[in-house]
Amino acid sequence: MFFERPESGEKAILVHMDMADEAVQESPRELEELALSAGADPVEILMGSRHKPTSKFFVGSGKLDELRQLVQLHEAEVVIFNHPLSPAQERNIEREIKCRVLDRTGLILDIFAQRARTHEGKLQVELAQLEHVSTRLVRGWTHLERQKGGIGLRGPGESQLETDRRLLRARIKAINARLEKVRKQREQGRRSRQRAEVPTVSLVGYTNAGKSTLFNRITDADVYAADQLFATLDPTLRRIELEDVGPAILADTVGFIRHLPHKLVESFRATLQETTDATLLLHVVDAYDEERQGHMDEVEHVLREIGAEDVPLLQVFNKIDQMPGQEPRIDRDDQGMPTRVWLSAQSGAGVELLLQAVNEALSDDVFHDTIKLTPREGQLRSQLYAQGAVLEESYDECGDIHLEIRLQRKDLLQILSRLGMPTEQYRVEPVY
Ligand code: GTP
Repeated sequence: MFFERPESGEKAILVHMDMADEAVQESPRELEELALSAGADPVEILMGSRHKPTSKFFVGSGKLDELRQLVQLHEAEVVIFNHPLSPAQERNIEREIKCRVLDRTGLILDIFAQRARTHEGKLQVELAQLEHVSTRLVRGWTHLERQKGGIGLRGPGESQLETDRRLLRARIKAINARLEKVRKQREQGRRSRQRAEVPTVSLVGYTNAGKSTLFNRITDADVYAADQLFATLDPTLRRIELEDVGPAILADTVGFIRHLPHKLVESFRATLQETTDATLLLHVVDAYDEERQGHMDEVEHVLREIGAEDVPLLQVFNKIDQMPGQEPRIDRDDQGMPTRVWLSAQSGAGVELLLQAVNEALSDDVFHDTIKLTPREGQLRSQLYAQGAVLEESYDECGDIHLEIRLQRKDLLQILSRLGMPTEQYRVEPVY
């Protein structure tokens, strides 16, 4: 890696300003959680309010003094702002307080870097980091030259900077090429799953909602679950068996978070594609969290942003073990279709109900029945075999064929219409 990353336990001062101008306010509590997730040790949070940021230091001179004193008092190693800073602001503050400064994007990137597990995820993070750092590259050398009193000098600092820039550009190019290759492979995998008509169920949700825990519960897979934000960065895919549906893919995805920097959403678009292409989304919610509604709104916002708003969705209200009197249950809409399941991924209570609800939601699209064919309908029989839809076959005394078949309704409709056969006799249309 090209750049330093906070070591575990680095003493951090957090800075949070209430901004009259900012449309959406970040929460100071979340900043603390993010800092902890990055492995920092937040020793103090400096709060304040401003009408709008100053262009030079983001905060006013009084706050900057306070910050300098806090850094000295705690011998802090890093200062983390709960706001995006321009490279110039970051540099100016660092120079003034003699301490490394990280903004919210830098912090989130660092967490991503620590959590990325798949090859593609690691490449995506490195690329985003390189792009973030390339605008800030000047920093270290400016300091040096300041100390030497040589502003504007064309010394070794400058040529080192040039070398770094060149290396960065080369590295960005190389990563882009590798990413392209990995994406192609992923795309092939997804296409072959689509061809085989294996439904994909994707877990989505605000960070820390309990997706990985639920994923493990369902698959018994050993996916890394930790009380840290973004324990999951890459979708992890596992094959599961559903009673009426047959095989399905369960995908664990990255946790969403408020104000995820736009560029990051862009870099992770490929990873999130798993979500857009899913047959069913399970929106996992920490039902016990007091900010439950805000987090749900945010997840829905991101889903719209990545074009996944039309994918059928089932809400999973998790962590009911923390809500006295809340029993596992399925909530249903007017048509009796499941809309929400209350459960505890940790204790396992209600997980059976979730599987039942998923089964119901998916099997609506699946035709699973025994049909009778006359010997003259052999073409239909062979097409069903070609589709891999036949589960069992038997003949009766009249020579008719009884086929137990299971396939997507739309595929059966397609076969019937291709053969010019009527659809009514098989009750293929979904029953509403
Ligand atoms: P990200 O990877 O950050 O998106 O998080 P996630 O949604 O995958 O959450 P994860 O499964 O890592 O769980 C977050 C924390 O919540 C962990 O400490 C879990 O032990 C805890 N947790 C998950 N499910 C439950 C539950 O049903 N009850 C309780 N009490 N805690 C839970």
